[in-house]
Amino acid sequence: MHRKLDPRINLAVIYGSTREGRLCETIAAWTIAQIEGDGPFAVDAIDPAELGSPTRHPPRDDAALLALKERIALADGFIVVTPEYNRGYPAPLKLLIDSVGREWRGKPVAFVSYGGISGGLRAVEQLRLVFAELHAATIRDGVAFTNAWDQFDASGQLVDADRAERAMATMLAQLHWWASALRNARDSVPYGQFAA
Ligand SMILES: Cc1cc2nc3c(=O)[nH]c(=O)nc-3n(C[C@H](O)[C@H](O)[C@H](O)COP(=O)(O)O)c2cc1C
Repeated sequence: MHRKLDPRINLAVIYGSTREGRLCETIAAWTIAQIEGDGPFAVDAIDPAELGSPTRHPPRDDAALLALKERIALADGFIVVTPEYNRGYPAPLKLLIDSVGREWRGKPVAFVSYGGISGGLRAVEQLRLVFAELHAATIRDGVAFTNAWDQFDASGQLVDADRAERAMATMLAQLHWWASALRNARDSVPYGQFAA
């Protein structure tokens, strides 16, 4: 099969915040640069702000929704870049996740998080529960930026890049393993028969 011959892993980077002036812009850009510098990945950046920020679920045949589903279906794995909002994650991210169904199944999800003292980890813990329900596998190691606003300079560069780059390399290695393994598994045995 063609997909097995293509060693590249299709990764979708999903923006968690749609806030005006969001730090998400900077952190997602850093994330994408790290992925592109790392190895055999093709990246698709999925930004809920570009989906028109719907406030309610669109109908099943909505063109933008169908296009989103297709992009999620094409991905072999995901990196969610999320801030922490009131110990959770932002509402537009939940709407995006819930708008899509079977396209998440049997795929790995990793996290780059940010916030205050928690580095966004409380948002990540909630997202792990959500993705378990969707038959997606979350990756243990992630990248977390504590007091994120202090960590990037005005040009979007990390003040102390070393630790974050090491954490990202670990996360990408794990994500690559899971994404390759699960892509082969999905090609061999479609996952749908095991899901309600
Ligand atoms: C509505 C709101 C709630 C927040 N709640 C938390 C929180 O519970 N914990 C935390 O660490 N940071 C919290 N923050 C700080 C954000 O994590 C920080 O401002 C981050 O930059 C927001 O991401 P964004 O700029 O990409 O929207 C909150 C920010 C907002 C706007």
